[in-house]
Amino acid sequence: MTNEISKFEIAYNDPKLYFIYKDIKAIKNIKILELGVRKGISTSLFLKLCEENNGKLISVDVEDCGHLYKNNRWNFIHTRDDNFEKIDNEILKMGGLDVVYIDSFHEPLHIKKIFYHYYKLLKKGGLIFIDDICWLPYAKFSHRESSGMYEANYQTFKKLLEIKFTNKEKLNLEFSFDNSGTAKMTKKSDLELNEPKKIKKVLSLKNILLTFYSKLVNRS
Ligand SMILES: C[S@@+](CC[C@H](N)C(=O)[O-])C[C@H]1O[C@@H](n2cnc3c(N)ncnc32)[C@H](O)[C@@H]1O
Repeated sequence: MTNEISKFEIAYNDPKLYFIYKDIKAIKNIKILELGVRKGISTSLFLKLCEENNGKLISVDVEDCGHLYKNNRWNFIHTRDDNFEKIDNEILKMGGLDVVYIDSFHEPLHIKKIFYHYYKLLKKGGLIFIDDICWLPYAKFSHRESSGMYEANYQTFKKLLEIKFTNKEKLNLEFSFDNSGTAKMTKKSDLELNEPKKIKKVLSLKNILLTFYSKLVNRS
């Protein structure tokens, strides 16, 4: 129990997790899917909320994290997050989804696949949170310099914008750039999502000249 309380305190004081908590704390009978558990920090926050709001939580991890909590509101599934048949079955039994938290395999195309799949099971008005969309902590001369993390987070951010670009009326996107960042997607329609598309800028001679001029001025 002491362990659970301290993990909850860590989670509650984490600005990235608070970004999620503040938006979901009032949802009654909340149904949450959490992808990625590890030490169960985010899990402790979701479980507390489930206790307060008569909710249920499904958590998924390739590591066996099932020993972390004993709670009848918690269903831990020891599997990959794209074992759709197994996870969907449990989601249907739970009665759908209000919230999905993606914090498992941080690779842009994997995140896109997971996002599109669980979006279909999310209620209208439901939320998907995606961890690690900010590359600032990993930039050159930043405190956690890393080319791999920089690229993964930057590409995830771009992929989410590309999804918004082709689904403007169907969903909304918001971002927090605290630490390594979190994205929040709100489902606005039950219509199927379009595939994402590269976002291209409109080229004009005036813009090319302005870019050239601005580079020239900033160099000196
Ligand atoms: C960053 S940790 C999760 C941290 C946790 N959400 C928290 O805030 O306390 C990522 C976890 O995702 C798990 N993981 C990685 N790839 C996965 C996949 N494809 N399916 C399920 N779990 C995965 C790892 O085993 C690891 O425990």
